[in-house]
Amino acid sequence: MEKNTLDTRLVNVEKISFEEKEEFSLRPSQWEDYIGQEQIKKNLDIFIKASKKRGECLDHILFFGPPGLGKTTLSYIIATQMGANIKVTAAPMIEKSGDLAAIMTNLAEGDILFIDEIHRLSPAIEEILYPAMEDFRLDIIIGSGPAAQTIKIDLPRFTLIGATTRAGMLSNPLRDRFGMNFRMEFYSVEELGLIIERAAKRFQKSIDEKSALEIAKRSRGTPRIALRLLKRVRDFSDVGNEKSISLVTTQYALNELGINTLGFDMLDLRYLEILRSAKGRPIGLSTIAAAMSEDEGTIEEAIEPYLLANGYIEKTAKGRIATNKIFNVLK
Ligand SMILES: Nc1ncnc2c1ncn2[C@@H]1O[C@H](COP(=O)(O)OP(=O)(O)OP(=O)(O)O)[C@@H](O)[C@H]1O
Ligand SMILES: [Mg+2]
Repeated sequence: MEKNTLDTRLVNVEKISFEEKEEFSLRPSQWEDYIGQEQIKKNLDIFIKASKKRGECLDHILFFGPPGLGKTTLSYIIATQMGANIKVTAAPMIEKSGDLAAIMTNLAEGDILFIDEIHRLSPAIEEILYPAMEDFRLDIIIGSGPAAQTIKIDLPRFTLIGATTRAGMLSNPLRDRFGMNFRMEFYSVEELGLIIERAAKRFQKSIDEKSALEIAKRSRGTPRIALRLLKRVRDFSDVGNEKSISLVTTQYALNELGINTLGFDMLDLRYLEILRSAKGRPIGLSTIAAAMSEDEGTIEEAIEPYLLANGYIEKTAKGRIATNKIFNVLK
């Protein structure tokens, strides 16, 4: 059997490049199509209206939360609402100060600069970002030693939108320079059901409400997982010559895919099994990572947030502890 690693994991939320294009086409471009995150939407709507009324640029915005909850999507919607251009980059692509300078000097007044995985910026790049965010100014040092010179370049007023899956890894000075901070929440089953129904419509494949909710229940509160599962269920349904996706096919497909009724796959189950074997003693992240032969970062980012948010585990200073709720999962 194929090893169930994070690479092959169906409920994995890492982006898979060939699917990105399709994901893009499913991405809502208007407020009305963006389901859930009501509090964030309400606040953003006010900030956007206020800054448009004053004819000002929007304050810098930071989105944080687990992968696949809609940070990038929201950023595109903001750009549409502001009628602004959006330039998209990710921290790992900004290696040298010159990279950032090139991006910044190409911005026009009112543009939005989106930096994904912003916790991965190097300290040297962060230093350049501070005055750019605060005073719309670039201070670039040319040369080194006594001959070094600082050049100051004025920048147009722009909005920086940063997205991160690891809020804890963001430096304080950087976090403080964002005027707005938003924490993305996991979605309810009903919200995911709606997202699935709308996506199915775009695929021109009908799905009944019960089936949509069945997929939603197994999507770990995450739209990206919901959409991915929908695509796989659609495959089963198409092969079975169904006109509309049925509940029986949905359940069959999801079971075949190794997703249990709570949305947990082999990796989650292995994780919980390790905690259970500790019989209430806390276990450190590094021990869990070694036992699972997985990277600590991935466990923290892709497995734990959902388990934490739903009370299956607790984080303590000494390590992770399973709650009694795991007995509903592990029989
Ligand atoms: N609120 C929503 N309503 C409808 N679809 C959504 C919503 N949020 C996300 N999606 C869909 O889920 C997919 C993933 O969203 P997105 O790429 O914005 O997540 P992300 O938070 O940026 O993830 P990452 O941290 O991996 O960059 C997209 O295809 C998008 O269409
Ligand atoms: Mg994203």
